[in-house]
Amino acid sequence: MDEEGRLLSGAPDPDDLGIESSLRPRRIEDYVGQKKIVRNLKVFIRAAIERGESLDHVLLFGPPGLGKTTLAHIIGHEMGVPVRTTSGPTLEKAGDLAAILTNLDPGEILFIDEIHRLGPTVEEILYPAIEDFKLDLVIGQGPAARTMEIPLPPFTLVGATTRAGLITKPLHGRFGIVHRLDFYSPDELAQIVDRSARILDVAIDKAGARELAGRSRGTPRISNRLLRRVRDFAQVEGDGHIDLEVARGALAQLEVDEFGFDEVDRKILGTLIEHYSGGPAGIQALAAAVGEDRGTLEDLYEPFLIQEGFLQRTPRGRVATHRAYSHLGYKQPPGTTGMLF
Ligand SMILES: Nc1ncnc2c1ncn2[C@@H]1O[C@H](COP(=O)(O)OP(=O)(O)O)[C@@H](O)[C@H]1O
Ligand SMILES: [Mg+2]
Repeated sequence: MDEEGRLLSGAPDPDDLGIESSLRPRRIEDYVGQKKIVRNLKVFIRAAIERGESLDHVLLFGPPGLGKTTLAHIIGHEMGVPVRTTSGPTLEKAGDLAAILTNLDPGEILFIDEIHRLGPTVEEILYPAIEDFKLDLVIGQGPAARTMEIPLPPFTLVGATTRAGLITKPLHGRFGIVHRLDFYSPDELAQIVDRSARILDVAIDKAGARELAGRSRGTPRISNRLLRRVRDFAQVEGDGHIDLEVARGALAQLEVDEFGFDEVDRKILGTLIEHYSGGPAGIQALAAAVGEDRGTLEDLYEPFLIQEGFLQRTPRGRVATHRAYSHLGYKQPPGTTGMLF
C-alpha cells in the first residue's frame, strides 16, 4: 500500500505499535465512546467480581482501529487479572492452544485476536475449554487411542474479530457477551485527540482537534496517527502549536480530504460510477477493478463508506449513492437524480 493508504487505514502499521500502547487508555473511565458496551461491561464486571467468578466470555467485533484490543486490556484491568494475548493465525496446532490453556491462572483473561482465523482443529479444542473449562485430549493413535479429560481453571476468553460473519455458529454461540463496536462520532474522536495530545505533550486547540477528528473515518487509530503526522508539520513549519489553520494546511499536504477518503475510497466510488453507471456491481468484480482483495474492501473500506452514506449494499451488488456522485464531482446521470439513496 502507498504512503497515503497507510495513513488512513484503520489497520495498525509498525509505526503505530510502540506509541499505541502509550496512548491506550487502561481504565474503563478513560475509554471514550461506545457507551452501550461500556455500560454493559461495567455491570457484568461488577457482578462477576461480587460473585467471585470469572467474567463470561466476551466477543468483540468491528472494523480495525476501533478499540477492540484496548477494551480487552481494560477488561483485564477492571477484573484485576492478567491478560494473555494470542491470535487466530498464530495458533497453528491444537497443541499450541492446549499449552496456553493449561498454563492459565484462575480468572485470567485469554485474548484471541483475529479469532475468525482459528483453524478447525484448534477451534474444536476451544469448545469444551470455554464451555466446561476442560480439555478433551486424544492420546495415542489408532485402536489404542483414548480421550483424556483435563480440567482447566476458570478463565475468560475475549475474542476479537473484524468479521463477525466469518465466526462459526458453534463458536459464536459460546460467547455470553457479544458486542459490535461502532465508528466514533467527531466529538468522541476530538476527545481522543485531545487526550492523546496531552500524553504526547502536543499543544492543540479545540478547532484543531475537531478538524483531525472529522477526517479520521470514525476511527481512533487514524485520529492518533493524523495527530502525530500533523504534529510534525506544526513543529517543522510552525511553532509546534496546532490550530485550525495548521491542521488544515498539514492535512492538505498529507492529501487527507474532508471525509478522510484515500485513493482506494475514491477508486471504489469512481469505478462504480464510471464503469458500472453507479452500480449495482458485484463485490468481486469491484475488488478486481480497484486492485484490492475482496476482504480488504469488505473489512477496511466498505463499512465506513456505507455508514457515511456513500455506498449501498443491495442484493444485486454495490451501488454508489447520490452523495458519492456529488463528493467526487460527478453529475448524476439522467434518470437517477432524486433517487432516494
Ligand atoms: N475508546 C477509545 N478511547 C480512547 N482511545 C482509543 C479508544 N479506542 C481506541 N483507541 C486508541 O486507538 C488505538 C487503536 O485501538 P485498538 O484497541 O488497537 O483497536 P483494534 O484492536 O480494534 O484494532 C489504541 O492505541 C488507542 O490509543
Ligand atoms: Mg487489535
